[in-house]
Amino acid sequence: MFNFKNKVAIVTGAASGIGRATAELLAKHGAKVIIADIQEQKCKEVAEFICEEGGEAVAIPCDVTVSIEVKKMVEKAVLLFGGLHIAVNSAGIEGVHAGTTGHTEEMWDKIIDVDLKSVWLSMKYELLEIEKQKEGCIVNVSSAAGLVAGAGTIAYTASKHGVIGLTKSAALEYASKGIRINAVCPGFVRTPMLEKLIDSYPEIQNQLASREPMKRLATVEEIAHAICYLCSDAASFVTGVSMPVDGGFTLWGI
Ligand code: NAI
Repeated sequence: MFNFKNKVAIVTGAASGIGRATAELLAKHGAKVIIADIQEQKCKEVAEFICEEGGEAVAIPCDVTVSIEVKKMVEKAVLLFGGLHIAVNSAGIEGVHAGTTGHTEEMWDKIIDVDLKSVWLSMKYELLEIEKQKEGCIVNVSSAAGLVAGAGTIAYTASKHGVIGLTKSAALEYASKGIRINAVCPGFVRTPMLEKLIDSYPEIQNQLASREPMKRLATVEEIAHAICYLCSDAASFVTGVSMPVDGGFTLWGI
């Protein structure tokens, strides 16, 4: 379905969930993949797993909110594999259900740092390298919460809307330079992040699947396939889009 032979790809948040599934799919189709995540041990386990399956992957632990770590991660990737063509920025944390007045500054700063600022920081250093290849692409993982709003999750909703804004701005800036930049907007996906949210707010468990028009959650593979499509030549004229991969969730109206 895809051909990423001779491509080097960074995936942030690749130790778990959507990032991990995307790293595995990119590697399965020939890419050399950098597993970048704050969870050092899990990074290594994912890279080892990909190599055992016959792919090529290296773990480079990194906190994507720390500029110098992101810079070094990208530099190390280029040193190891000789360049960079693809980046998928999937690292993120769940929001809090605290209401607009209930959010503390600490909560706001943390969510905006990890879910929004880190995407800009990652792109900043990834683009410096991708530009040298004169072609390439970036996919940022936003959310259905980037397209519609969830009451009580103001920081997460703002961060995911922000990811769409920065994706559009960078896409315009780089369109004439051969670099495509897109976002995916997943609906509810069964990952450790969603499990954590359910642990904190057990009352939402039954609501989640029933709010999806398809009456089920997405699998990580379904999101990874959409990301890989946007990274592939099949999407060669697609840039700046915020693609819902949500089983119709954001269609809900009246
Ligand atoms: P996950 O929790 O399985 O994976 C997120 C990964 O990001 C983890 O491995 C974590 O260690 C890493 N991470 C967190 N903070 C980091 C930091 N400062 N530096 C480096 N790595 C860091 O979660 P999931 O569900 O795979 O989430 C991936 C992305 O998808 C997130 O941006 C999330 O907001 C988004 N998303 C998830 C949905 C879902 O239902 N699971 C729905 C819509 C969007």
